Amino acid sequence: MNIDGTLVAKKLRDKLAVEITEFKSCHGIQPSLTVLLVGEDSASHIYVKNKVKKTQEIGMISNEIKLPFNTSQGYLLSQLEKLNNDNSIHGILVQLPLPKHIDESAIISAINPNKDVDGFHAINSGRLFNGESEAIVPCTPQGCVMLVKQHLGDDLSGKHAVVIGRSNIVGKPVAMLLLQENCTVTIAHSQTINLPEVCQQADILVVAVGIAKFVKAAWVKEGATIIDVGINRILTDEGKKKLVGDVDYDAVIAKCGAITPVPGGVGPMTIACLLKNTLTAAKNSLR
Ligand code: GUN
Repeated sequence: MNIDGTLVAKKLRDKLAVEITEFKSCHGIQPSLTVLLVGEDSASHIYVKNKVKKTQEIGMISNEIKLPFNTSQGYLLSQLEKLNNDNSIHGILVQLPLPKHIDESAIISAINPNKDVDGFHAINSGRLFNGESEAIVPCTPQGCVMLVKQHLGDDLSGKHAVVIGRSNIVGKPVAMLLLQENCTVTIAHSQTINLPEVCQQADILVVAVGIAKFVKAAWVKEGATIIDVGINRILTDEGKKKLVGDVDYDAVIAKCGAITPVPGGVGPMTIACLLKNTLTAAKNSLR
């Protein structure tokens, strides 16, 4: 069966919309998110447009700062400093990837950790690593765990979770979250030996590798819960453009217990969790 990320995300947004209305009437403050976009990457422009639209729809302020490809690192840092010091801005997101002449980690480190709604700052990764509740948790991993719970319920204790991928954005944080949920966690990656056998152990399989249809049905344990983080654009045999995940969905659906489709799985959850993090940042700004 499918895990319907579009539906779970809608329910989360509906809940957040109520909380945002309450927050505004209680404190007279409207939560706000500023997104910085550098350069012309077309996928990034689509993602940012969608983030801005969803932020406004839910009743928060969304500012978008579009900068040209040749923006210097110094200028971007100066913009961040202004936003960090502006009390009316609760969330800051710098869309990645940045142009190659800009050092991404220097930019992420320059965001005020309390406004870092992506949860990418080392302070937030450290808080997550330490299991501290103040951590702002990266959006996609948060969404992945919510989708697992949607199918398996809230108690994941003792489940063997295999995460394929070790990025700072998905693999490592999702592994930390699953560990907090008392799963036994294996992080697999491009150098893992016997990857199919490792995957066959998984009650929960999270795949974030960026390779279309990478995980085959033979790798999947009967009844497993599969979260497919991949978004890959491919051409079909008929020459049509299609979005597919990192899992060979058509073959795996009959064998697994539940799987997130692409599109309509993890993607909508990422934005919903960004809205959640922005509201949390606004609430924390009052403390
Ligand atoms: N580019 C692709 N995904 C993301 C994300 O979650 N946050 C940011 N800032 N950039 C991205």
